[in-house]
Amino acid sequence: MAYLKWLDTYDIGFKIIDEQHKKLIDIINELYEAQRHGTSQIAIIDTLDKLADYTVYHFATEEKLFAQYEYPKTTEHLAEHKSFVDQVVKFQQELKMGSLLLSLKTMEYLKDWTITHILGSDREFGEFVQLRELGE
Ligand SMILES: [Fe+2]
Repeated sequence: MAYLKWLDTYDIGFKIIDEQHKKLIDIINELYEAQRHGTSQIAIIDTLDKLADYTVYHFATEEKLFAQYEYPKTTEHLAEHKSFVDQVVKFQQELKMGSLLLSLKTMEYLKDWTITHILGSDREFGEFVQLRELGE
């Protein structure tokens, strides 16, 4: 069974974002499997790099949409993205220095942050877009 299973409640009603969230969850699962099966440190580093790169790409997509929709909560939302990116960069650095075993605690952080963010701030954006489109 997947470490993090996609649930329909994670849908925020914005297709591109929902698809990217699914992909993000896939990579988190891939990372979990890599560390669970005792894959080489190099493979774990590669998968964490992949997660970091995809996260940056995904956040850039959301940020373009915030600008396009003149989303009033952009500043707060961007601050959340930044704190996650900073944390992932820290994990990457620690892992590359060999000082961090990709612990269950790290995995839990990645999982919990992602789901809390999707169900909170991302859903809020989805609702904002839906209301705006109804009003226009
Ligand atoms: Fe977001």
